[in-house]
Amino acid sequence: MSIQNSHTPKITLPENTAEELGKKVVTLEHNFLESGLFSDEKLAILIENYPRDCYLLTTMTEQGSEQVGQSAKQQWFQGDINNLSGQEVLEAIRKGRFWLQIRRMDLHAPEYQDLVNNGLQQVGQMNPAMKNTKHSPSLLISSPGARVLYHVDMGLNVLWHMRGQKRVWLYEAGNEAQFSEQDLEGIVLGETEEDMPYDPEWDKDAQSIILQPGQALTWPFLSPHRVDNLDEMNVSIASDFLNGHVRKRLRVAYANGIMRRKLGRTPRSSKSVDGLVGLAKSVAGVVAKKSKLHPVKSPDRMLSFRLDPENIGEIIKIPEQEQTKITQL
Ligand SMILES: [Fe+2]
Repeated sequence: MSIQNSHTPKITLPENTAEELGKKVVTLEHNFLESGLFSDEKLAILIENYPRDCYLLTTMTEQGSEQVGQSAKQQWFQGDINNLSGQEVLEAIRKGRFWLQIRRMDLHAPEYQDLVNNGLQQVGQMNPAMKNTKHSPSLLISSPGARVLYHVDMGLNVLWHMRGQKRVWLYEAGNEAQFSEQDLEGIVLGETEEDMPYDPEWDKDAQSIILQPGQALTWPFLSPHRVDNLDEMNVSIASDFLNGHVRKRLRVAYANGIMRRKLGRTPRSSKSVDGLVGLAKSVAGVVAKKSKLHPVKSPDRMLSFRLDPENIGEIIKIPEQEQTKITQL
């Protein structure tokens, strides 16, 4: 790949909001677009020949078609670009309802990774709570009308938006009715994915923000969220990361999950990560994880469609008995 880039990102924050980073929903401004990395031409070069074990292509049911209690498995399907050219994949995304996630940019798209590294470093300088040593950004290219189902990230996140418009729905962190401690434990223990059951009734109390090119969004840790694209192809980068508090909270949730499942005890909330009990649980979480007391298993992703090379924007479904597992690096 021969994409050269020497662009330095500039991030700006609304006045007096640095304190709120990581605690509230905050919209930042950035100039990633000026890098030139997000044109059709550059994206097509990137997509073409991107390793199979570092991308995910998904199609999903329509916006508004969700039913209460329906699992992500019934609404979210994995596919393959089927050797289409980069430009054809972009055309398919424009015409169909797809969500392409380009992962492991540290290995295969260093100029994109550098851009995010630099952006996140600046955000970390604005508020120490946003400092991070480890993050795994993904480039997201998605169709008009595509959506990301209700879910919770296991880290903090900055969502950098470059092209199109998307409506991000954010729900209150810590609302037990919408995302409980037991849900968190289930994810940390690998029993469930981050996609959670959702009730459209919850939208009444949610924040909904239409994200414009040149904006980036952050929200508090464990705020459930979902995304509806508006009428154009969308290009964004999601950059999940951990900080000391998040790590500790996840370890405590892990220890609590073990306690509840193996010892049948009702633990105190993982919200209380401070103090001696929190520290002990945090250590217990690491020990339990290392000792494989409760091995974390990733749910299988099955390949259920391929992009149709004859009808760009359409899919060829793969019968269930012929579906194979998708492996990711
Ligand atoms: Fe997310």
